[in-house]
Amino acid sequence: MAECSSQNCGETPDYKLVPHRGFNLISGIHSPEEVDKIQNWEIRDSDIFVITYPKSGTIWLQQILSLIEVKGDVTATNDQLTSERIPWIELIGSHKRFDSAPSPRIRVSHLQYKFMPLGLKNKKGKVIYVARNPKDVLVSYFHFHKYATMLETPKDFESFFENFLEGNVYGNCWFEHIKTWFSHKEEMNFLYITYEEMIKDLQSVVERISSFLGKSLTPQQVNDVVQHSTFKNMKNNPQANYKLVPCNLLNHQQGSFLRKGTIGDWKNYFTVAQNERLDKVYQQNMQDFPFSFIWDTSDLITS
Ligand code: A3P
Repeated sequence: MAECSSQNCGETPDYKLVPHRGFNLISGIHSPEEVDKIQNWEIRDSDIFVITYPKSGTIWLQQILSLIEVKGDVTATNDQLTSERIPWIELIGSHKRFDSAPSPRIRVSHLQYKFMPLGLKNKKGKVIYVARNPKDVLVSYFHFHKYATMLETPKDFESFFENFLEGNVYGNCWFEHIKTWFSHKEEMNFLYITYEEMIKDLQSVVERISSFLGKSLTPQQVNDVVQHSTFKNMKNNPQANYKLVPCNLLNHQQGSFLRKGTIGDWKNYFTVAQNERLDKVYQQNMQDFPFSFIWDTSDLITS
C-alpha cells in the first residue's frame, strides 16, 4: 500500500455515526446486520479477543500478541500488518475471515459486551480487556478525530470534551464500556490490564498475558516481545505503526497512530474546570470499581 499523498488518497466515503441498539457504529466500515451476527459466531477454546475502548492501546496489544505467538521473533511478523494479523471483528466482512481462519484466531474489538459471541460468555475462548485512564483517552481520541477520516473533525477541544462526556463518539460512554465489561468478567476467561501498567512495567504485563494464554516463553523471548513493543520500535515498524493503512481511512498527513505514548498528556489540554468536571463524573460513576488508574507519570513512582 502506498504512503498517503493527495494524489493517491482516492475518494473518502461519507462516514457517519449511526446508532444501533444503543451503540454508535460508523457507516461505511460497520454494518448493523453483520454486527448483530457476531453473537452467533462459533467460538473455539483457542480464540482470543482483545477488548478496548478506543485509544486505550489496542494497536499495542496487537503488536504484543502477534509477537507472543511467534515467541518474540519479529522477523516472523514481517509478512503481514498487525491490523490484518489481528483484525477488528466489527468491520464489514470480518465474519468471512473468522469462520475459516486457522487457530488461534486473535481479534480486537471496541464493541460493547452485549454484541459479543455467546460462546465467550460460556468460558470458551479468552478475553483481554485493556483500560486506560479516561483523561488520556479523551486527549488521544481528540487527536485521532483529526487524523481518522471516518470520524468527524472536532470544532475544538472543548466541543470534543463535551461529546466524549456525552458518549457521542464511537465507543459511546467510556464509563459504561468499562463497567459493563467488568461486571460480566466471571462469565468469561477474563484478564484485565491497563495501559498505565504497560507503561510502568511492560515486561511483567507481557508475562501476565503469556501466562493467561498458556504460552511459556523463555526470559529471552519475553525480552524480545518487550523490545519490539516499545513505542519507539513500533513507531519505526511499518507492520505495526498503521502508516500503511489506506489514507481514505487515516489521513497520515494529519497525525500518527503512535502519537505520544505517555501518561498525563491530558494536563496539556484540560482546563482546571474541565479537570474538576471529569473528576466529578469519574467519582459518580466509578466509586464501586475495584481498581484505580495512574493519572500522571509522577504517580508511577508511588504506585
Ligand atoms: P496517544 O495518542 O496518547 O499517543 P489505540 O490503538 O487503542 O487506538 O490506542 C492508541 C494509543 O496507544 C496512542 O496514544 C498510542 O500512542 C498509544 N500506544 C500504542 N502503542 C504504544 C506503545 N508501544 N507505547 C506507548 N503507547 C502506545
